[in-house]
Amino acid sequence: MRRHHSTTPRTARILGSLLLLAAAGVFTVGATTAPAKATATPLDRVVPAPASVTPGGSPYRITRDTSIRVSGTGEARRVGEYLAGLLRPSTGYPLPVTDKGSGGIQLRLAATTFGAEGYRLDSGRGGVTITASAPAGLFHGVQTLRQLLPAAVEKKSVQPGPWPVTGGTVQDAPRFPYRGAMLDVSRHFFTVDQVKRYIDQLALYKINELHLHLGDDQGWRIAIDSWPRLATYGGSTQVGGGRGGYYTKADYQEIVRYAASRYLEVVPEIDMPGHTNAALASYAELNCDGVAPPLYTGTDVGFSSLCVPKQVTYDFVDDVVRELAELTPGRYLHIGGDEAHSTSHADYVTFMNRVQPIVAKYGKTVIGWHQLTGATPAKGALAQYWGLDDTSAEEKAQVAQAARNGTGLVLSPADRVYLDMKYTADTPLGQDWAGLVEVKRSYDWDPGAYLPGVPASAVRGVEAPLWTETITRSADIEYMAFPRLPGVAELGWSPAATHDWNAYRVRLAAQGPRWDALGMTYYKSPQVPWPTR
Ligand code: ACM
Repeated sequence: MRRHHSTTPRTARILGSLLLLAAAGVFTVGATTAPAKATATPLDRVVPAPASVTPGGSPYRITRDTSIRVSGTGEARRVGEYLAGLLRPSTGYPLPVTDKGSGGIQLRLAATTFGAEGYRLDSGRGGVTITASAPAGLFHGVQTLRQLLPAAVEKKSVQPGPWPVTGGTVQDAPRFPYRGAMLDVSRHFFTVDQVKRYIDQLALYKINELHLHLGDDQGWRIAIDSWPRLATYGGSTQVGGGRGGYYTKADYQEIVRYAASRYLEVVPEIDMPGHTNAALASYAELNCDGVAPPLYTGTDVGFSSLCVPKQVTYDFVDDVVRELAELTPGRYLHIGGDEAHSTSHADYVTFMNRVQPIVAKYGKTVIGWHQLTGATPAKGALAQYWGLDDTSAEEKAQVAQAARNGTGLVLSPADRVYLDMKYTADTPLGQDWAGLVEVKRSYDWDPGAYLPGVPASAVRGVEAPLWTETITRSADIEYMAFPRLPGVAELGWSPAATHDWNAYRVRLAAQGPRWDALGMTYYKSPQVPWPTR
């Protein structure tokens, strides 16, 4: 459901921005008591753009004497500890987390009107207070505070500071409830630590869904006790023929736990009935001819299918979905459904009619790639659109019809937000089948108006998938995701009224020094006015 909330009128925002720009030139913090070493970051120089910003009043300055004060549940304290963990290494300050006293940085849980993920940040001489109805809102407010501090705050060694926060108020809440990123761990396997690193980068931009593509032709990546060869054999290799890998249940639970600590929900995907060679290779009985194919380490698509007429197929799906649902506190289970080119249409419909109720039986909501709309999406299901601007009108109309019938949509147009698409013809990694996707193209579209004939209420949000045929290292993930991922995050979070490429590219540019401080790799797009050192 799209959330409605009030935003500052456009003219007021523009005026506010002008005032901030003017202020940035003259604004020195603590000018009477210390040399002016840093100008404070304007309150709206944040990605994603906040819903409303009202600058004014004195700045706050984090010092050796600052405490982090938490109220409410244990979760507020955990967000406080997370913030302290971010700030202590670079500031060198003790930053105790306490429920006593006043002033400093306060994380306050209180009834608000801005939803479970919204927050208000008030900054003034006496302190910074983040108020939210729920811990997720406090966490997102902390990400805003983080971006208001100098980029050096991200470093792991003590930096000189100072640590000013501009005075004023940010009031913020997301446009869409689903703001996702997908990582394909099948084409190449990524370790728990690599996934955690990506989660931390996603959290900085208020992404709240991590979709893991756990099964494909080249590898099965999650231990299933009732079908152990899926992981031990089906997970043994990857694209290019190197050693693959898989998550034990404990590994997977560690990813889910870590993601939850950053307020991301994990959406597991087992792609079916196509994209299943790793499973078919692991168990001969899953094949219609009873013969297991060899493991596959190439990059073709569309050649594999589960055997739709066989009962064992549904016993298999039931076991996999049951075990996966047990590992999944989140609401969704993604069943793929794309590129089933080796499954007849009739078989595809039969398969989806049998499999979707299994997902429901184990208490989860179906997500499928948008080809699911060519069958009958279950009540409450979401379809993930991955077409292009120039996908046929018929295909778009089929998705729109499903949306009018109640299927929610997650938008991942491949020629906009597929993070594996090359930026330019010279990009050393990635693919180009959906086109070349520079930063502006990735950012400059409106999810609310993208597909004709879709009611606005059907659009649940956006997701940026990263397919990994050519991606093998964390540095590769980062190079392809940054700087495009923050733009997708902004499309998901920020009110449409804030959408403005020329303003966005300036805010995005300010992220570069932060990524440098974090030791991240990114593409220095010539479309973005990166600060010169
Ligand atoms: C897809 O890119 N085949 C969903």
